[in-house]
Amino acid sequence: MIGVFDSGFGGLTILQSFIDELPAYDFTYLGDNGRTPYGNKSLNVIYEYTRQAVEFLFGFGAGLIILACNTASAKALRKIQQEWLSVNYPDRRVLGVVIPLAEAAVEASKSGRIGVIGTRATIESRVYDQELNKLREGLGIFSQACPLLVPLVEENWVGKPETTMILKKYLRPLKTKNIDTLILGCTHYPFLKNDIKRIMGKNCHVLDAPGIVAGKLADYLKRHPEIDGNLSKDGKRVFYTTDGEDRFRSFGRKFFGKHISNVRTTTLE
Ligand code: DGL
Repeated sequence: MIGVFDSGFGGLTILQSFIDELPAYDFTYLGDNGRTPYGNKSLNVIYEYTRQAVEFLFGFGAGLIILACNTASAKALRKIQQEWLSVNYPDRRVLGVVIPLAEAAVEASKSGRIGVIGTRATIESRVYDQELNKLREGLGIFSQACPLLVPLVEENWVGKPETTMILKKYLRPLKTKNIDTLILGCTHYPFLKNDIKRIMGKNCHVLDAPGIVAGKLADYLKRHPEIDGNLSKDGKRVFYTTDGEDRFRSFGRKFFGKHISNVRTTTLE
């Protein structure tokens, strides 16, 4: 089984693309709705929460876990891979969304001027800068934290004039830098993609995560038969939340695109 972790609902958009790309695989989704949002939390808290989530999904039988959450990928993934996984689960893998998006951005960008938007924690981590710089020398990387966007998406304010105004304010500094590629470095931003594209104009390629990360995961599994061979493939989908099964079912539908059954509540510690 492949475990998919997010701080809340947002990673369901990624899970949906995984299922489209890899329908035979079993997936277990864990949303830490009881402790969301992660985007304004500190490094130690994000690391500890993410480590607990990873431990839960491994305990449940995951052979591979994808951190669908950009904030967890940015703040916790490296430490989990380097310090925790090798000691506790050396034969299993935890991957994130930052490297696939950085690779896609470098492939897409002609001018080498790339923008990144995300939560405050993701942008402050500078992890996109680090990964992008490993892939190509001489890039111009311009980042902008957009802490108001997650609540606006969750409150269904997409398309409202107030949201467009806030988006314009966040995106203006990137637009003036003439970027030709923009990474949507947060699970919630695909819902704002049309508005972001309109504001950025036709010379800027806007990259959102779900399709890109799903394609890269399929590719990874082809290249790693030793991991792929341990993953069950009975088309099962199971959902866990750390708070509110009913809300997860009703609200999660917006992110997942279809009815969610099999939701159970769990605690992480
Ligand atoms: N899932 C988070 C991310 O992609 C957004 C929500 C949060 O702040 O927890 O960064």
